[in-house]
Amino acid sequence: MNIPNIGLGTFRLKGQQVIDSVTTGLELGYRHIDTAQIYGNEAEVGKAIVDSGIARSEIFITTKIWIDNLSREKLIPSLKESLEKLRLEQVDLTLVHWPSPNVIPITEYMEAIAEAKAQGFTKSIGLSNFTNALFQQAIDVVGAQEIATHQVEIHPFLQNKKVVDFARNKGVHITAYMPLAYGKVMNDPVITKIAERHKYSAAQIALAWSLQQGFAVIPSSTKRFNQELNLQARNIKLSDDEMAEIATLEANDRLANPSIAPEWD
Ligand SMILES: NC(=O)c1ccc[n+]([C@@H]2O[C@H](COP(=O)([O-])OP(=O)(O)OC[C@H]3O[C@@H](n4cnc5c(N)ncnc54)[C@H](OP(=O)(O)O)[C@@H]3O)[C@@H](O)[C@H]2O)c1
Repeated sequence: MNIPNIGLGTFRLKGQQVIDSVTTGLELGYRHIDTAQIYGNEAEVGKAIVDSGIARSEIFITTKIWIDNLSREKLIPSLKESLEKLRLEQVDLTLVHWPSPNVIPITEYMEAIAEAKAQGFTKSIGLSNFTNALFQQAIDVVGAQEIATHQVEIHPFLQNKKVVDFARNKGVHITAYMPLAYGKVMNDPVITKIAERHKYSAAQIALAWSLQQGFAVIPSSTKRFNQELNLQARNIKLSDDEMAEIATLEANDRLANPSIAPEWD
């Protein structure tokens, strides 16, 4: 299955809240769920998927290997633990959550994640939060054709152009995380004006802007209404002028920048 272009994020959501969010999302038609080992919610995501009764083959499920599990000894066992929590035999996509090159060499974890795919624990593999130099090193180990997506922060205020151009050049798909800038897009006058013109909301316009560039988007929401609106972003067609107007909002405004982050491009 190709990566569905609208997925449901689950960062920060725990316990009953994540069960409700995923259950509602699946009811509304989401068929792509994004979790991670570090989110501490894989078991709840798994429960919501099983309880939905939807065929496993219809849902695209991503998890991400946390930095503590990147060594050759830990990567596959940690993925098996994720599968147990998710109640799955295989995930669709496993990402290296953060590159962490100074602790475990890239060669070591790229070989291990490729082995996880070879052994059938994941259908595909990918990267998240890599710089172009680190991305190239990962490509040198497994080949660009093996990298199903590069998941990076992208929204109108951080467009990550260098990383996007590099991935495009290598033929690698991009997934935009935090596509709503964690709610900030709702307060932007340029996006709001375009939204009024289209009779959609600012959040929907921000998602459409990413989708129109060929990215998958994975907004999270705890509200049925917002989840539904976000799915409708597929129906919006922004003009070239509107795309260009939103592009002027670039502000290098990075929201996900923990101490483990690499030196960004
Ligand atoms: N790979 C990585 O390192 C990484 C890092 C960060 C995030 N991610 C992934 O990306 C996903 C998305 O990022 P995120 O959850 O941080 O931020 P986000 O999706 O940009 O924003 C989520 C926020 O926007 C609100 N919202 C959602 N839809 C809305 C709508 N239609 N109208 C108004 N408000 C709306 C939500 O509130 P309500 O709940 O009230 O709707 C929530 O507060 C994460 O859940 C995670 O799966 C990956």
